[in-house]
Amino acid sequence: MILLNPGPVNVSDRVRQALIQPDICHRESECSELLNDIRQRLLKAFVPGEEDEYTAIILTGSGTAAVEAALLSSLPIGKRAMVITNGVYGDRLSAMIKMHRIGVPDMKYDWGVAPDIKMIELAMIQHPEVYTVAMVHHETTLGFINPVKEIAEMVDSKNRVFMLDSVSGLGGEAVDIGGAKMYLVAGAAQKCIQGFPGLAFVLVRKGFMQQVMKHPKRSMYLSLANYYEEQERGTIPFTPAVQVYYAFREALDELLEEGVENRIKRFRGYASTIRTRMQAMGIQAVLPPEAQGNTLTAFNLPEGVAYPQLHDELKDAGYVIYAGQGPLENKIFRVANIGVLTNENIEGFLDAFQSTLKKIRA
Ligand SMILES: Cc1ncc(COP(=O)(O)O)c(C=O)c1O
Repeated sequence: MILLNPGPVNVSDRVRQALIQPDICHRESECSELLNDIRQRLLKAFVPGEEDEYTAIILTGSGTAAVEAALLSSLPIGKRAMVITNGVYGDRLSAMIKMHRIGVPDMKYDWGVAPDIKMIELAMIQHPEVYTVAMVHHETTLGFINPVKEIAEMVDSKNRVFMLDSVSGLGGEAVDIGGAKMYLVAGAAQKCIQGFPGLAFVLVRKGFMQQVMKHPKRSMYLSLANYYEEQERGTIPFTPAVQVYYAFREALDELLEEGVENRIKRFRGYASTIRTRMQAMGIQAVLPPEAQGNTLTAFNLPEGVAYPQLHDELKDAGYVIYAGQGPLENKIFRVANIGVLTNENIEGFLDAFQSTLKKIRA
């Protein structure tokens, strides 16, 4: 089955084979070595040249675990977070801080609409209690790329902390984490890095990590301080998904061998083929080209085509596409182009899409 949903993705045989390991105890030296390897490789891939400025914290869980850990751990007592949202995952950040009553009103924009940096600056002046500003990099709701560099730099210039959910961005969308002084960036294994689900991570600026150690712990499992302390000693506070970690190390090796820039280029090539051929079939993308990322395209469902039928016919042909969310559930469909894919897979999908459309319309 070819997965064209935004993760979990098709992985390589090499990554799949890495799951098969002798039984291992996570308190043994093999596991410390594995953890260290993963941490180093993450820094090499995502903060190249600034490895000494960042630390990588590894958690067992899906991307949401890393996002929630980063957000909750970022705040000292008495300070608040402000969320900039223009999609489902921004709204999720907002829900997290609401649960803990540590937020100020969101800077909320329509889906696919870029946040207004001047308004955010103004809101930060109006709310001096705001310490962390959080947002999503690639908003998977529509495949929208947020202007994270500009916002991160502005936030840093006001001596506040910028936190980024790049769960669907890292490895597929360019981001200058070190250059833009991003303090916390959350990612996960199962999307553009082409690993299995079950491992998530946060890249944290080292200097800031020292502050985090003094912040109140708002969760037992999701406290970055708990993980940092132990990971620096080569251990881990809770039982990790060891086999998934082995596969992730292999996926990171693959990423470093391919090169992050080349991976991004590869995904961009697939996206371009999909967009061009869809347009030729009369299928309209929801976002204008300049707002789209490299890894996912949201398309309007054509007249007279219901998503469930489109999905099921394509699945029968060997391809999994993805539904829209919320109010767009019955209006759009999404096609991601991440994972171990080939040009033939993409062309095969587009051929199948064309015949499916003909069949539905017949
Ligand atoms: C931008 C973004 N953030 C967070 C998540 C949540 O990730 P997970 O389902 O791994 O918890 C997703 C999942 O698609 C995402 O796209």
